[in-house]
Amino acid sequence: MPKGAKAWVCIIGIFLDLINNHSWSHPQLCKIPTTLDGPFVPFTAPFDPSLRGKTVDLPDTDPRVQRRVKGFEPEQISVTLSATYDSVWISWITGESQIGYNVKPLDPKTVSSIVRYGQLRFPLTHEARGYSLVYNQFYPFEGLQNYTSGIIHHVRLTGLKPSTLYYYRCGDTSIPAMSDIFFFKTMPVSAPQNYPGRIAIVGDLGLTYNTTTTVSHLNSNKPDLILLIGDVTYANLYLTNGTSADCYTCSFPDTPIHETYQPRWDYWGRFMQNLVSKVPTNGGGREP
Ligand SMILES: *[C@@H]1O[C@H](CO)[C@@H](O)[C@H](O)[C@H]1NC(C)=O
Ligand SMILES: *[C@@H]1O[C@H](CO)[C@@H](O)[C@H](O)[C@H]1NC(C)=O
Ligand SMILES: *[C@@H]1O[C@H](CO)[C@@H](O)[C@H](O)[C@H]1NC(C)=O
Ligand SMILES: [Fe+2]
Repeated sequence: MPKGAKAWVCIIGIFLDLINNHSWSHPQLCKIPTTLDGPFVPFTAPFDPSLRGKTVDLPDTDPRVQRRVKGFEPEQISVTLSATYDSVWISWITGESQIGYNVKPLDPKTVSSIVRYGQLRFPLTHEARGYSLVYNQFYPFEGLQNYTSGIIHHVRLTGLKPSTLYYYRCGDTSIPAMSDIFFFKTMPVSAPQNYPGRIAIVGDLGLTYNTTTTVSHLNSNKPDLILLIGDVTYANLYLTNGTSADCYTCSFPDTPIHETYQPRWDYWGRFMQNLVSKVPTNGGGREP
């Protein structure tokens, strides 16, 4: 093995869901190297084809993907980086998404977008307000079900200090429907010797039992920042009636359009809240 190979195997073991392996990535057995330990000789882990096609998605009956809040209480809470250390976005969802034959979009104006935050848990001295929206996936084809999301809220916090812990809660203070108190740490001032020490990079997460292993590795390694580099829930492997296949076009060659099952996004947001409500991400985007 070339110098540095072990380090890369370790990183790959932690961050790629296809090759999760406790013996590589357990914190006691594997010190995560920093860029200061480098430079490393590039190393490519050989692809193990036996790992392909064996993943199983969490079903909609799994408690980790089910809606646990009542009424218009916030869920799917996340922190997303903004342009510089002094600003982040807090996002969440209120109300229930719907999928079916006669869905009626919620009015985003019915629930406010408010974040209370500060450096102390009590009292949360600052307040910021943002905006909300819903999105629809309406198919003009007989037999396909339509989806309309819960109310999606985004609030930008500004004027934050670098490398500082902030507490926050979000929701609507008038209903009242406010979340529990969460916390996150801002990024350091960006400079050649000053950057987040632990950056987790992960792609193709999905929402399988193996994803749960990957995400618990991410969590236990306490990253300062998570970069979601693309491919998130794989809702595009599902029909609108919730039936899935490993290969959509092989199993469903006759659908009038490539369907997706948008509730998978809600499942993902619920499953990820524990991590992404405290560690900022780059957002990742809502592809299929
Ligand atoms: C879905 O929405 C489209 C556009 O409004 C409509 O034409 C279609 O009939 C709807 N389908 C169902 C199943 O409700
Ligand atoms: C993925 O999850 C399955 C089911 O939980 C498990 O049997 C398998 O060992 C996991 N694969 C890897 C590579 O960890
Ligand atoms: C979903 O639709 C597919 C294709 O029409 C069909 O084969 C399958 O039985 C349906 N599943 C359910 C649960 O309705
Ligand atoms: Fe992918």
